[in-house]
Amino acid sequence: MKLAVFDTHRFDREALEAANARYGHTLVFFEPRLTAQTARLAQGFDAVCSFVNDKVDAATLELLHAGGTRLVALRSAGYNHVDLAAAARLGLKVVRVPEYSPYAVAEHAVALVLALNRRIHQAHARVRDWNFSLDGLVGFDLHGKTVGVVGTGRIGRAAARIFHGFGCRLLCFDAAPEAEVERELGARYVPLETLLREADIISLHVPLTPGTHHLVDAAALEKMKRGVMIINTGRGALIDSRALIDALKRGHIGAAGLDVYEEEEGIFFQDLSGQVLQDDVLARLLTFPNVLVTSHQAFLTREALGNIADTTLSSLQAFERGQPLLHEVSAGQVLRAPPRTE
Ligand code: NAI
Repeated sequence: MKLAVFDTHRFDREALEAANARYGHTLVFFEPRLTAQTARLAQGFDAVCSFVNDKVDAATLELLHAGGTRLVALRSAGYNHVDLAAAARLGLKVVRVPEYSPYAVAEHAVALVLALNRRIHQAHARVRDWNFSLDGLVGFDLHGKTVGVVGTGRIGRAAARIFHGFGCRLLCFDAAPEAEVERELGARYVPLETLLREADIISLHVPLTPGTHHLVDAAALEKMKRGVMIINTGRGALIDSRALIDALKRGHIGAAGLDVYEEEEGIFFQDLSGQVLQDDVLARLLTFPNVLVTSHQAFLTREALGNIADTTLSSLQAFERGQPLLHEVSAGQVLRAPPRTE
């Protein structure tokens, strides 16, 4: 099949080309993100491959459809950037990569916890300046601390297992609790309010849906323990960034590790060094010594990239052969939120 790959970076081009040796599709790589402005590049392509910060809204989908595209292959697990109702109306199939390495993302979440807690970023900057003092670098033992895991799907569960290994107590919140998580990890499912009140560290692993948008807002932040650490490797808009800044300024939030940011589109994945950063909220977040921001890189391991490429190209093959699409996403799949309070 002819596949137009949008928002191409060197790392995914290499992985897709290597995997394509087994499939023989025709891959054409485009650097721009997929939006209504760039959709015409896909004219005559059977399928497009889209990344997390593309804008796959109704306007984009209509242009793709008019150009002959029949399949939208997301090389991501999240699909919040796609208008699934519009895709269904146009008869466009949408597939994703539901699981490529939950470990990659979970391990990155834990890396943020460890770096923030033991102030590795500050320590590194100090010693490079030949400042070998330890003042201000005091952390805490993870052992015995309470970790709140919000969303115990593939990634949340992988993170929970790692925290369990550290000797942490686990509180979980999920629309669909899994008895196995409680059995295996001694975790306890609790209402979100309880988790917010009791956790020393909160790690977000739910998808972005209307029900989870600004799940962490000013009211939720207020319920948290003073000094709590918040980690977000889910999607940026799970957190109200302005409310987070306010809570950080007041010292209510002890630390924040953010791999995603609600306005990351057009910023993350780009080299903007030498330019003036136009996003004042992100710029403010970057000034806090107790905030670590990474540019949506939690997925970025060799294993994950290989699996993303393989799953994407095998979905194309199934589509071409008229076989069932194992990883199709449809509008009805969006979960309803469970109650957040007791
Ligand atoms: P998953 O589908 O396996 O798990 C999601 C869990 O969230 C499920 O257990 C589900 O029941 C729960 N959930 C959904 N809506 C909920 C709600 N309203 N309230 C409470 N629980 C709810 O997904 P997976 O693979 O664990 O990924 C989670 C998210 O991580 C993805 O949706 C994506 O946004 C993000 N992600 C981020 C990456 C990064 O590089 N930073 C890479 C991959 C995924």
